[in-house]
Amino acid sequence: MSNVAAQVPADHLMGVYNRAPVAFDRGRGVRLYTEEGVEYLDCMAGIATCGLGHAHPRLVDAVKRQAEKLWHVSNVFRIKEQEALAKRLTDASFADVAFFTNSGAEALECALKTARKYHHANGQPERIDVIGFDGSFHGRTYATINAAGNPSYVEGFGPRLPGYVQVKFGDHDALKAAIAAPTTAAVLIEPVQGEGGARAVPDHCLRGLRDLCTEHGVLLIFDEVQCGLGRTGQLFAHEWAREAQPDIMALAKALGNGFPVGACLATAEAAKGMTTGVHGSTYGGNPFAMAVALEAFDELSKPETLAHVREVAGYFAQQLEGLKARYPDVIVDIRGRGLLIGIKLVPNNRHFMVWARDEKLLIAGGGDNCVRLLPPLIITQAEAHEAIEKIERACETARTEMQKASPQ
Ligand SMILES: Cc1ncc(COP(=O)(O)O)c(C=O)c1O
Repeated sequence: MSNVAAQVPADHLMGVYNRAPVAFDRGRGVRLYTEEGVEYLDCMAGIATCGLGHAHPRLVDAVKRQAEKLWHVSNVFRIKEQEALAKRLTDASFADVAFFTNSGAEALECALKTARKYHHANGQPERIDVIGFDGSFHGRTYATINAAGNPSYVEGFGPRLPGYVQVKFGDHDALKAAIAAPTTAAVLIEPVQGEGGARAVPDHCLRGLRDLCTEHGVLLIFDEVQCGLGRTGQLFAHEWAREAQPDIMALAKALGNGFPVGACLATAEAAKGMTTGVHGSTYGGNPFAMAVALEAFDELSKPETLAHVREVAGYFAQQLEGLKARYPDVIVDIRGRGLLIGIKLVPNNRHFMVWARDEKLLIAGGGDNCVRLLPPLIITQAEAHEAIEKIERACETARTEMQKASPQ
Protein backbone atom coordinates (compact mmCIF):
# COMPACT_ATOMS: atom_id res chain seq x y z
CA MET A 1 0.00 0.00 0.00
CA SER A 2 1.58 3.28 -1.09
CA ASN A 3 1.70 6.24 1.31
CA VAL A 4 2.74 8.63 -1.46
CA ALA A 5 0.17 11.40 -2.04
CA ALA A 6 -1.81 10.94 -5.26
CA GLN A 7 -1.04 13.21 -8.19
CA VAL A 8 -3.92 15.08 -9.84
CA PRO A 9 -3.92 13.86 -13.45
CA ALA A 10 -3.69 16.56 -16.12
CA ASP A 11 -7.01 15.47 -17.67
CA HIS A 12 -8.84 15.41 -14.29
CA LEU A 13 -10.25 11.98 -15.10
CA MET A 14 -10.06 8.91 -12.90
CA GLY A 15 -7.29 6.86 -14.34
CA VAL A 16 -9.32 3.71 -14.96
CA TYR A 17 -8.72 3.53 -18.71
CA ASN A 18 -5.58 2.72 -20.62
CA ARG A 19 -6.25 5.37 -23.26
CA ALA A 20 -4.58 5.57 -26.65
CA PRO A 21 -3.10 8.99 -27.45
CA VAL A 22 -5.64 9.81 -30.14
CA ALA A 23 -8.95 11.72 -30.07
CA PHE A 24 -11.64 11.68 -32.72
CA ASP A 25 -13.66 14.63 -33.82
CA ARG A 26 -16.16 13.15 -36.22
CA GLY A 27 -17.21 9.94 -37.90
CA ARG A 28 -19.04 8.76 -40.99
CA GLY A 29 -19.84 5.18 -41.85
CA VAL A 30 -16.79 3.05 -41.00
CA ARG A 31 -14.43 6.06 -40.85
CA LEU A 32 -13.31 8.17 -37.92
CA TYR A 33 -11.44 11.46 -38.26
CA THR A 34 -9.23 13.39 -35.86
CA GLU A 35 -9.42 17.20 -35.60
CA GLU A 36 -6.43 17.36 -37.92
CA GLY A 37 -8.38 15.34 -40.48
CA VAL A 38 -6.43 12.08 -40.11
CA GLU A 39 -8.68 9.23 -41.26
CA TYR A 40 -8.94 5.86 -39.50
CA LEU A 41 -10.76 2.71 -40.58
CA ASP A 42 -12.90 1.77 -37.61
CA CYS A 43 -12.96 -2.00 -37.05
CA MET A 44 -13.86 -1.53 -33.41
CA ALA A 45 -17.15 0.40 -33.63
CA GLY A 46 -16.98 1.58 -30.02
CA ILE A 47 -16.53 -2.11 -29.05
CA ALA A 48 -19.34 -3.60 -31.11
CA THR A 49 -21.64 -0.66 -30.47
CA CYS A 50 -21.95 1.39 -33.66
CA GLY A 51 -23.42 -1.47 -35.71
CA LEU A 52 -24.73 0.97 -38.28
CA GLY A 53 -21.52 2.97 -38.34
CA HIS A 54 -21.09 6.62 -37.51
CA ALA A 55 -23.61 9.37 -38.29
CA HIS A 56 -26.09 6.99 -39.90
CA PRO A 57 -28.58 9.35 -41.60
CA ARG A 58 -31.65 7.55 -40.26
CA LEU A 59 -30.39 7.80 -36.68
CA VAL A 60 -29.25 11.40 -37.05
CA ASP A 61 -32.76 12.19 -38.24
CA ALA A 62 -34.34 10.33 -35.33
CA VAL A 63 -32.20 12.22 -32.80
CA LYS A 64 -33.05 15.59 -34.37
CA ARG A 65 -36.75 14.82 -34.56
CA GLN A 66 -37.00 13.57 -30.99
CA ALA A 67 -34.78 16.38 -29.61
CA GLU A 68 -37.40 18.87 -30.66
CA LYS A 69 -40.32 16.77 -29.44
CA LEU A 70 -39.70 15.13 -26.05
CA TRP A 71 -36.58 13.97 -24.24
CA HIS A 72 -37.69 12.54 -20.98
CA VAL A 73 -40.67 11.63 -18.88
CA SER A 74 -40.76 9.37 -15.89
CA ASN A 75 -41.59 5.70 -16.17
CA VAL A 76 -44.62 6.40 -13.99
CA PHE A 77 -46.27 7.42 -17.27
CA ARG A 78 -46.89 5.37 -20.38
CA ILE A 79 -44.15 5.87 -22.96
CA LYS A 80 -45.43 5.02 -26.42
CA GLU A 81 -41.96 4.67 -27.99
CA GLN A 82 -41.02 2.22 -25.23
CA GLU A 83 -44.11 0.12 -25.84
CA ALA A 84 -43.35 0.13 -29.57
CA LEU A 85 -39.77 -1.10 -29.05
CA ALA A 86 -40.87 -3.73 -26.53
CA LYS A 87 -43.34 -5.04 -29.12
CA ARG A 88 -40.65 -5.15 -31.83
CA LEU A 89 -38.13 -6.94 -29.61
CA THR A 90 -40.58 -9.47 -28.25
CA ASP A 91 -42.07 -10.16 -31.70
CA ALA A 92 -38.54 -10.86 -32.95
CA SER A 93 -37.45 -13.10 -30.07
CA PHE A 94 -38.38 -15.75 -27.51
CA ALA A 95 -39.40 -13.03 -25.05
CA ASP A 96 -42.76 -11.71 -23.88
CA VAL A 97 -41.65 -8.66 -21.90
CA ALA A 98 -38.82 -6.10 -21.81
CA PHE A 99 -37.24 -3.79 -19.27
CA PHE A 100 -35.13 -0.94 -20.67
CA THR A 101 -31.87 0.28 -19.20
CA ASN A 102 -29.04 2.66 -20.04
CA SER A 103 -26.24 0.12 -20.37
CA GLY A 104 -25.36 -3.53 -20.72
CA ALA A 105 -24.41 -3.95 -17.08
CA GLU A 106 -27.80 -2.62 -16.02
CA ALA A 107 -29.52 -5.02 -18.40
CA LEU A 108 -27.57 -7.83 -16.69
CA GLU A 109 -28.50 -6.49 -13.25
CA CYS A 110 -32.13 -6.73 -14.26
CA ALA A 111 -31.57 -10.24 -15.63
CA LEU A 112 -29.94 -11.41 -12.39
CA LYS A 113 -32.67 -9.88 -10.23
CA THR A 114 -35.36 -11.34 -12.49
CA ALA A 115 -33.90 -14.84 -12.13
CA ARG A 116 -33.67 -14.75 -8.35
CA LYS A 117 -37.09 -13.17 -8.01
CA TYR A 118 -38.57 -15.91 -10.17
CA HIS A 119 -37.51 -18.60 -7.73
CA HIS A 120 -38.61 -16.45 -4.80
CA ALA A 121 -42.05 -16.13 -6.40
CA ASN A 122 -42.06 -19.93 -6.86
CA GLY A 123 -41.50 -20.47 -3.15
CA GLN A 124 -37.84 -21.44 -3.58
CA PRO A 125 -35.93 -18.43 -2.17
CA GLU A 126 -32.91 -20.65 -1.53
CA ARG A 127 -32.26 -20.75 -5.26
CA ILE A 128 -29.91 -17.80 -5.55
CA ASP A 129 -26.76 -19.16 -7.22
CA VAL A 130 -25.87 -17.92 -10.67
CA ILE A 131 -23.41 -20.05 -12.64
CA GLY A 132 -20.92 -18.10 -14.73
CA PHE A 133 -17.89 -19.01 -16.84
CA ASP A 134 -14.24 -18.09 -16.85
CA GLY A 135 -13.36 -15.60 -19.55
CA SER A 136 -16.82 -14.06 -19.47
CA PHE A 137 -17.56 -10.37 -19.14
CA HIS A 138 -20.88 -8.89 -18.06
CA GLY A 139 -20.06 -5.30 -17.08
CA ARG A 140 -18.58 -3.41 -14.17
CA THR A 141 -21.30 -3.15 -11.54
CA TYR A 142 -20.77 -5.01 -8.31
CA ALA A 143 -23.13 -7.82 -9.30
CA THR A 144 -21.77 -8.20 -12.82
CA ILE A 145 -18.09 -8.36 -11.81
CA ASN A 146 -19.03 -11.08 -9.34
CA ALA A 147 -21.04 -12.92 -11.98
CA ALA A 148 -18.09 -12.92 -14.39
CA GLY A 149 -15.61 -13.61 -11.60
CA ASN A 150 -12.55 -12.21 -13.40
CA PRO A 151 -10.08 -11.93 -10.49
CA SER A 152 -8.54 -8.69 -11.72
CA TYR A 153 -11.97 -7.00 -11.79
CA VAL A 154 -13.15 -8.14 -8.34
CA GLU A 155 -9.91 -7.69 -6.42
CA GLY A 156 -9.87 -4.82 -3.95
CA PHE A 157 -13.62 -4.33 -3.85
CA GLY A 158 -14.19 -6.14 -0.59
CA PRO A 159 -15.69 -9.59 -0.14
CA ARG A 160 -17.06 -11.49 -3.11
CA LEU A 161 -20.84 -11.43 -3.30
CA PRO A 162 -22.46 -14.71 -2.31
CA GLY A 163 -24.45 -16.61 -4.90
CA TYR A 164 -22.00 -16.62 -7.83
CA VAL A 165 -20.46 -19.89 -8.94
CA GLN A 166 -17.68 -20.15 -11.53
CA VAL A 167 -17.31 -23.03 -13.96
CA LYS A 168 -14.48 -23.48 -16.43
CA PHE A 169 -15.53 -22.82 -20.04
CA GLY A 170 -16.00 -26.27 -21.59
CA ASP A 171 -15.99 -28.28 -18.35
CA HIS A 172 -19.24 -30.15 -18.91
CA ASP A 173 -19.06 -32.33 -15.79
CA ALA A 174 -18.57 -29.38 -13.46
CA LEU A 175 -21.39 -27.56 -15.22
CA LYS A 176 -23.79 -30.50 -14.90
CA ALA A 177 -23.05 -30.80 -11.18
CA ALA A 178 -23.52 -27.06 -10.61
CA ILE A 179 -26.84 -26.98 -12.48
CA ALA A 180 -28.16 -29.92 -10.45
CA ALA A 181 -27.42 -28.18 -7.12
CA PRO A 182 -30.61 -27.28 -5.23
CA THR A 183 -29.51 -23.66 -4.68
CA THR A 184 -28.95 -22.88 -8.37
CA ALA A 185 -31.10 -20.11 -9.81
CA ALA A 186 -29.65 -19.54 -13.27
CA VAL A 187 -26.86 -20.06 -15.75
CA LEU A 188 -25.44 -16.88 -17.31
CA ILE A 189 -23.51 -17.21 -20.56
CA GLU A 190 -22.43 -15.21 -23.60
CA PRO A 191 -23.24 -17.37 -26.67
CA VAL A 192 -20.06 -15.85 -28.11
CA GLN A 193 -17.66 -14.54 -25.49
CA GLY A 194 -16.55 -11.06 -26.48
CA GLU A 195 -13.93 -9.73 -24.12
CA GLY A 196 -12.82 -13.31 -23.35
CA GLY A 197 -11.36 -13.46 -26.85
CA ALA A 198 -14.20 -14.11 -29.33
CA ARG A 199 -14.90 -17.66 -28.13
CA ALA A 200 -18.12 -19.08 -29.57
CA VAL A 201 -20.00 -21.68 -27.55
CA PRO A 202 -20.58 -24.65 -29.91
CA ASP A 203 -24.24 -24.90 -30.99
CA HIS A 204 -24.73 -28.40 -29.55
CA CYS A 205 -23.42 -27.16 -26.17
CA LEU A 206 -25.96 -24.33 -26.11
CA ARG A 207 -28.71 -26.84 -26.87
CA GLY A 208 -27.42 -29.21 -24.19
CA LEU A 209 -27.31 -26.35 -21.74
CA ARG A 210 -30.90 -25.43 -22.55
CA ASP A 211 -32.02 -29.02 -21.91
CA LEU A 212 -30.11 -29.30 -18.64
CA CYS A 213 -31.56 -26.03 -17.34
CA THR A 214 -35.09 -27.11 -18.25
CA GLU A 215 -34.58 -30.49 -16.59
CA HIS A 216 -33.48 -28.89 -13.31
CA GLY A 217 -35.83 -25.89 -13.23
CA VAL A 218 -32.90 -23.51 -13.66
CA LEU A 219 -33.25 -20.33 -15.74
CA LEU A 220 -30.99 -19.75 -18.71
CA ILE A 221 -29.73 -16.20 -19.22
CA PHE A 222 -27.94 -15.18 -22.41
CA ASP A 223 -25.74 -12.12 -22.39
CA GLU A 224 -26.05 -10.89 -25.96
CA VAL A 225 -24.88 -7.38 -25.15
CA GLN A 226 -21.96 -7.77 -27.55
CA CYS A 227 -22.84 -10.73 -29.77
CA GLY A 228 -26.51 -9.89 -30.29
CA LEU A 229 -28.36 -7.62 -32.72
CA GLY A 230 -26.90 -8.87 -35.95
CA ARG A 231 -23.22 -9.03 -35.00
CA THR A 232 -22.92 -12.76 -35.78
CA GLY A 233 -25.16 -12.69 -38.87
CA GLN A 234 -28.31 -13.76 -37.02
CA LEU A 235 -30.42 -11.19 -35.18
CA PHE A 236 -29.47 -12.99 -31.95
CA ALA A 237 -26.35 -15.13 -31.72
CA HIS A 238 -28.18 -18.03 -30.05
CA GLU A 239 -30.35 -18.43 -33.15
CA TRP A 240 -27.44 -20.27 -34.79
CA ALA A 241 -28.14 -23.10 -32.34
CA ARG A 242 -31.73 -23.96 -33.13
CA GLU A 243 -33.89 -24.84 -30.11
CA ALA A 244 -31.62 -23.07 -27.65
CA GLN A 245 -33.72 -20.18 -26.49
CA PRO A 246 -33.02 -18.53 -23.15
CA ASP A 247 -35.52 -17.52 -20.49
CA ILE A 248 -33.89 -14.12 -20.07
CA MET A 249 -31.56 -12.14 -22.34
CA ALA A 250 -29.55 -8.93 -21.93
CA LEU A 251 -29.00 -6.56 -24.87
CA ALA A 252 -27.31 -3.17 -25.19
CA LYS A 253 -24.48 -1.76 -27.35
CA ALA A 254 -25.85 -1.86 -30.94
CA LEU A 255 -29.40 -1.30 -29.69
CA GLY A 256 -28.71 2.45 -29.49
CA ASN A 257 -25.77 2.52 -31.94
CA GLY A 258 -23.93 4.65 -29.38
CA PHE A 259 -26.93 6.23 -27.69
CA PRO A 260 -26.94 4.58 -24.23
CA VAL A 261 -29.70 1.95 -24.28
CA GLY A 262 -29.94 -1.57 -22.92
CA ALA A 263 -32.74 -4.08 -22.53
CA CYS A 264 -33.51 -7.10 -20.45
CA LEU A 265 -35.91 -9.42 -22.27
CA ALA A 266 -37.69 -12.32 -20.60
CA THR A 267 -40.52 -14.77 -20.99
CA ALA A 268 -43.63 -13.88 -18.98
CA GLU A 269 -42.96 -16.95 -16.83
CA ALA A 270 -39.37 -15.97 -16.00
CA ALA A 271 -40.45 -12.39 -15.28
CA LYS A 272 -43.34 -13.34 -13.02
CA GLY A 273 -41.57 -12.07 -9.90
CA MET A 274 -40.92 -8.64 -11.43
CA THR A 275 -44.02 -6.97 -10.10
CA THR A 276 -44.79 -3.32 -9.35
CA GLY A 277 -42.08 -1.61 -7.33
CA VAL A 278 -39.42 -4.32 -7.39
CA HIS A 279 -37.20 -2.67 -10.02
CA GLY A 280 -36.87 0.62 -11.88
CA SER A 281 -34.70 3.23 -13.56
CA THR A 282 -34.98 6.99 -14.04
CA TYR A 283 -33.71 7.14 -17.60
CA GLY A 284 -34.18 3.55 -18.76
CA GLY A 285 -36.54 3.52 -21.74
CA ASN A 286 -37.06 7.27 -21.99
CA PRO A 287 -38.56 8.64 -25.22
CA PHE A 288 -35.21 9.95 -26.50
CA ALA A 289 -33.40 6.62 -26.16
CA MET A 290 -36.38 4.68 -27.50
CA ALA A 291 -36.77 6.88 -30.59
CA VAL A 292 -33.16 6.17 -31.56
CA ALA A 293 -33.30 2.47 -30.67
CA LEU A 294 -36.50 1.94 -32.67
CA GLU A 295 -34.79 3.15 -35.85
CA ALA A 296 -31.57 1.25 -35.09
CA PHE A 297 -33.44 -1.99 -34.41
CA ASP A 298 -35.41 -1.60 -37.61
CA GLU A 299 -32.18 -1.36 -39.65
CA LEU A 300 -30.32 -4.09 -37.74
CA SER A 301 -33.14 -6.60 -37.97
CA LYS A 302 -33.61 -6.32 -41.75
CA PRO A 303 -32.91 -9.67 -43.44
CA GLU A 304 -30.62 -7.86 -45.90
CA THR A 305 -28.51 -6.44 -43.02
CA LEU A 306 -28.06 -9.94 -41.58
CA ALA A 307 -27.31 -11.45 -45.00
CA HIS A 308 -24.72 -8.73 -45.57
CA VAL A 309 -23.04 -9.53 -42.23
CA ARG A 310 -22.81 -13.21 -43.17
CA GLU A 311 -21.33 -12.37 -46.55
CA VAL A 312 -18.66 -9.90 -45.33
CA ALA A 313 -17.89 -12.17 -42.37
CA GLY A 314 -17.22 -15.01 -44.83
CA TYR A 315 -14.83 -12.77 -46.73
CA PHE A 316 -13.03 -11.76 -43.52
CA ALA A 317 -12.76 -15.40 -42.39
CA GLN A 318 -11.30 -16.53 -45.72
CA GLN A 319 -8.82 -13.63 -45.92
CA LEU A 320 -7.74 -14.00 -42.28
CA GLU A 321 -7.11 -17.73 -42.74
CA GLY A 322 -4.87 -16.72 -45.64
CA LEU A 323 -2.99 -14.28 -43.38
CA LYS A 324 -2.66 -16.97 -40.73
CA ALA A 325 -1.08 -19.29 -43.32
CA ARG A 326 1.34 -16.57 -44.45
CA TYR A 327 2.18 -15.38 -40.92
CA PRO A 328 2.20 -18.49 -38.70
CA ASP A 329 4.85 -16.74 -36.59
CA VAL A 330 2.34 -13.95 -35.82
CA ILE A 331 -1.18 -15.44 -35.96
CA VAL A 332 -2.08 -18.52 -33.91
CA ASP A 333 -5.81 -18.78 -34.48
CA ILE A 334 -8.82 -17.10 -36.10
CA ARG A 335 -12.00 -17.47 -34.09
CA GLY A 336 -15.38 -15.95 -33.27
CA ARG A 337 -18.58 -15.77 -35.25
CA GLY A 338 -19.82 -13.38 -37.94
CA LEU A 339 -18.31 -9.94 -37.42
CA LEU A 340 -17.21 -10.73 -33.88
CA ILE A 341 -13.80 -11.89 -34.98
CA GLY A 342 -10.87 -12.86 -32.78
CA ILE A 343 -7.25 -13.12 -33.91
CA LYS A 344 -5.10 -14.95 -31.37
CA LEU A 345 -1.55 -13.71 -31.65
CA VAL A 346 2.02 -14.68 -30.88
CA PRO A 347 3.16 -11.09 -30.15
CA ASN A 348 1.53 -9.13 -27.37
CA ASN A 349 -1.99 -8.10 -28.45
CA ARG A 350 -1.57 -4.57 -27.02
CA HIS A 351 1.52 -4.08 -29.18
CA PHE A 352 -0.36 -5.38 -32.21
CA MET A 353 -3.17 -2.87 -31.62
CA VAL A 354 -0.58 -0.08 -31.75
CA TRP A 355 0.94 -1.47 -34.98
CA ALA A 356 -2.56 -1.62 -36.48
CA ARG A 357 -3.24 1.94 -35.33
CA ASP A 358 -0.03 3.04 -37.02
CA GLU A 359 -1.70 1.74 -40.20
CA LYS A 360 -4.76 3.85 -39.32
CA LEU A 361 -6.81 0.79 -38.42
CA LEU A 362 -8.72 0.59 -35.13
CA ILE A 363 -9.14 -2.85 -33.57
CA ALA A 364 -10.09 -3.96 -30.05
CA GLY A 365 -8.16 -6.07 -27.56
CA GLY A 366 -9.44 -9.28 -26.03
CA GLY A 367 -8.60 -12.04 -23.58
CA ASP A 368 -6.29 -14.96 -24.41
CA ASN A 369 -3.92 -12.56 -26.24
CA CYS A 370 -6.47 -11.86 -28.97
CA VAL A 371 -7.34 -8.77 -30.89
CA ARG A 372 -10.94 -8.41 -31.97
CA LEU A 373 -12.30 -7.08 -35.24
CA LEU A 374 -15.73 -5.63 -34.51
CA PRO A 375 -16.45 -3.43 -37.53
CA PRO A 376 -19.75 -1.68 -38.14
CA LEU A 377 -22.08 -4.26 -39.70
CA ILE A 378 -22.45 -2.06 -42.76
CA ILE A 379 -18.78 -2.47 -43.71
CA THR A 380 -18.46 -3.22 -47.44
CA GLN A 381 -16.26 -5.91 -48.93
CA ALA A 382 -13.96 -3.19 -50.34
CA GLU A 383 -13.57 -1.72 -46.84
CA ALA A 384 -13.01 -5.20 -45.41
CA HIS A 385 -10.28 -5.70 -48.04
CA GLU A 386 -8.68 -2.43 -46.89
CA ALA A 387 -8.77 -3.70 -43.29
CA ILE A 388 -7.07 -6.95 -44.33
CA GLU A 389 -4.31 -5.03 -46.11
CA LYS A 390 -3.71 -2.98 -42.98
CA ILE A 391 -3.66 -6.10 -40.80
CA GLU A 392 -1.16 -7.67 -43.19
CA ARG A 393 1.12 -4.64 -42.81
CA ALA A 394 0.74 -4.86 -39.02
CA CYS A 395 1.74 -8.54 -39.28
CA GLU A 396 4.87 -7.47 -41.19
CA THR A 397 5.72 -5.00 -38.43
CA ALA A 398 5.09 -7.69 -35.82
CA ARG A 399 7.43 -10.07 -37.64
CA THR A 400 10.17 -7.42 -37.89
CA GLU A 401 9.81 -6.41 -34.25
CA MET A 402 9.88 -10.00 -33.02
CA GLN A 403 12.99 -10.72 -35.11
CA LYS A 404 14.66 -7.62 -33.66
CA ALA A 405 13.78 -8.77 -30.14
CA SER A 406 15.20 -12.30 -30.62
CA PRO A 407 17.52 -12.47 -33.66
CA GLN A 408 18.28 -16.03 -34.87
C1 LIG B 1 -20.94 -9.32 -23.17
C2 LIG B 1 -21.03 -8.02 -22.43
N1 LIG B 1 -21.88 -7.92 -21.40
C3 LIG B 1 -22.02 -6.78 -20.70
C4 LIG B 1 -21.28 -5.66 -21.01
C5 LIG B 1 -21.43 -4.42 -20.21
O1 LIG B 1 -22.03 -3.42 -20.97
P1 LIG B 1 -21.89 -1.89 -20.52
O2 LIG B 1 -20.46 -1.52 -20.68
O3 LIG B 1 -22.81 -1.16 -21.45
O4 LIG B 1 -22.34 -1.81 -19.11
C6 LIG B 1 -20.38 -5.72 -22.08
C7 LIG B 1 -19.54 -4.56 -22.42
O5 LIG B 1 -18.53 -4.65 -23.08
C8 LIG B 1 -20.25 -6.94 -22.80
O6 LIG B 1 -19.39 -7.06 -23.83
